[in-house]
Amino acid sequence: MTPKSTISGRHGEVAVAAEGLIKRFKTGRTTIEVLKGVDFDARHGDLTMVMGPSGSGKSTLIAALSGLLRPDEGKVAALDQPNLWKLSDGKIDRFRLEHCGFIFQGFNLFPALTALQQVTTVLGYQGAEKGEARQRAKAALEEVGLGPRMNQRPSELSGGEKQRVAIARCLAKNPQLLFADEPTSALDGENGQVVVRLLRRAATEHGAAVVCVTHDPRLEAWADRIIRIEDGRILEDQRRTPDPNATLSH
Ligand SMILES: Nc1ncnc2c1ncn2[C@@H]1O[C@H](COP(=O)(O)OP(=O)(O)OP(=O)(O)O)[C@@H](O)[C@H]1O
Ligand SMILES: [Mg+2]
Repeated sequence: MTPKSTISGRHGEVAVAAEGLIKRFKTGRTTIEVLKGVDFDARHGDLTMVMGPSGSGKSTLIAALSGLLRPDEGKVAALDQPNLWKLSDGKIDRFRLEHCGFIFQGFNLFPALTALQQVTTVLGYQGAEKGEARQRAKAALEEVGLGPRMNQRPSELSGGEKQRVAIARCLAKNPQLLFADEPTSALDGENGQVVVRLLRRAATEHGAAVVCVTHDPRLEAWADRIIRIEDGRILEDQRRTPDPNATLSH
């Protein structure tokens, strides 16, 4: 059996919840508190946008929610884990591999691999057999419109295409938790729109809890929920109705 991640939560159920998150960084003799007691949750089926100025703690929050960066205080409950940070490092890595997808501004692709291999490699880590990995990878690349460019390497792809490969890699896993950090900031309006629509679909059609950090207020149109963070604190948490026909143009 392939340990494929399946969505266990129903739309509207809390997928990840943090309580009292505090994260401090030491630089030289000074310590700065970057998260100052953050309570946060994200639900299956929602595209939750986290907005806030540079340095407000957005990337740090995502890292603490996803098992990438241990908070100094507070608790993260994720899927069926009541306290993610209480698990061993190996189990946290396993949890991330099985259930989390990541999309970053910088694409994070392997330079030597074709688009297809970028996706099959990650499915292989997850335990998928070769044939199945190939089939799922192709389907995911087709879903993002890259069917015809499957055999190209990152250097032969545009920025928008690279980001779509990263999204295909993420969607092929069918993650329950999808974290995107500024996924559109290196893209033009048209490619940005393709990316935000795919995130929207991951939430609506796959039932993932999608948490997307962005500076771009135009992306708000697609969100179910907008959370504003400033100086390590949540200032506002607003639910709204997404507009599936929204457009992003410069
Ligand atoms: N490893 C680290 N060591 C020291 N300080 C750090 C570290 N990582 C982040 N910081 C500091 O923590 C603060 C919050 O950083 P974070 O990356 O979470 O901000 P952000 O909201 O994502 O900003 P941006 O929009 O610019 O990406 C910043 O002041 C940053 O300099
Ligand atoms: Mg950041």
